[in-house]
Amino acid sequence: MTDLSNDKTKIAGVVDVIRAKRDGGRLTDDQIDWTIAAYTRGEIADEQMSALAMAILLRGMEAGEIARWTAAMIASGERLDLSSVARPTVDKHSTGGVGDKITLPLTPLVAACGAAVPQLSGRGLGHTGGTLDKLESIPGWRAGLSNAQFVRQLTEVGAVICAAGDELAPADRKLYALRDVTGTVEAIPLIASSIMSKKIAEGTGALVLDVKVGTGAFMSAMAQARELARTMVDLGTAHGVRTTALLTDMSTPLGRTVGNAVEVAEAVEVLAGGGPSDVVELTLALAREMLDAAGLPDADPAAALGAGRAMDTWRAMIAAQGGDPLAPLPVAAEAELIRADRDGYVAGADARAIGVAAWRLGAGRARKEDPVSAAAGVVLHRRPGEPVRAGDPLLELRADDPRRIADVLPYLAGTVELAEEPPPARDLVLERVG
Ligand code: URA
Repeated sequence: MTDLSNDKTKIAGVVDVIRAKRDGGRLTDDQIDWTIAAYTRGEIADEQMSALAMAILLRGMEAGEIARWTAAMIASGERLDLSSVARPTVDKHSTGGVGDKITLPLTPLVAACGAAVPQLSGRGLGHTGGTLDKLESIPGWRAGLSNAQFVRQLTEVGAVICAAGDELAPADRKLYALRDVTGTVEAIPLIASSIMSKKIAEGTGALVLDVKVGTGAFMSAMAQARELARTMVDLGTAHGVRTTALLTDMSTPLGRTVGNAVEVAEAVEVLAGGGPSDVVELTLALAREMLDAAGLPDADPAAALGAGRAMDTWRAMIAAQGGDPLAPLPVAAEAELIRADRDGYVAGADARAIGVAAWRLGAGRARKEDPVSAAAGVVLHRRPGEPVRAGDPLLELRADDPRRIADVLPYLAGTVELAEEPPPARDLVLERVG
């Protein structure tokens, strides 16, 4: 391997790595290990790493390179040890969708069925929301736990959703922030290694991936989503994590709400035995997949939901992190309805447009240091397939500041598509990759 002990050689080393990938070559294991370690230590400049990320986006990586890149990202920080948790551990990761609040009912539901669910989550960036932002709308709830608190809550309650600590895959933390501002997020090797390095380092024994497909997702084409799912399943399996994936539809938002407090309220409806049918269907599909992966195939999540056991675990999980599960959630000061201009059926609701609207209303952030509004968001009064009469409300926009509503209104024309006939029913779960 090249001697990289002095500055000049280091610079030559990085440039060689960039050139190799630029020209379509395969990076060696040594090059990958050194690049990730040196970047984490601050010895590779952001502009060099940006050039390498772009070369990877354009040229791709072989399976062996992705596996090594992922291993190097895991090795950049700590790997949690959950061996003291008696129950089988299983987590879920979604590649991000509009109105995707599934983690909120799913985590306590799977815990109520006998598994332990360690959910290290992130904050939202761009048009898909972050689970922590949603939970932070609950008065008192805090996202930060020490590793010891995390393991204790996992043992005692069986369910934890909290922020990933700085020591978990720190290489990914730096690289993801850089990719976000250099147009290099959408590279399958980089997405797969980013997600899987964090999930493997978290220490879970099993993992179910919810890979979204459609206008509101990273991947709008089925073939790309399938490739991402297969790459991640193979990475998890190679690291001893039982991993499967569901490809699920993200062409319309999930449920009736997009935002923070509004999504928590909808998740609580599901835990109480109600809620929109698509949110319930996906929660149960992922719960079954997780319980299977955890070695609990006979558990019955529908029964646990019906009997209120998932709600009991939700309340314990929220209270363990300082939250008051019964406190009223924040309500927006301003609201405006968009109404149907004719009779018909809702043929579609553009997930991306609605996600962007919720973000601009204040529910999401443009830069990672921006604050978010707990109360802002969008409520879908009619979902695809439902009949409408002229004058019925279709969308409700909520914000703390009326100027934000005025700003998004012009962009929402045609977002909810009306037709004379009801649209054909769509499958929510499109495919399984195991
Ligand atoms: N989520 C991640 O954690 N990383 C990515 O690269 C994309 C989505």
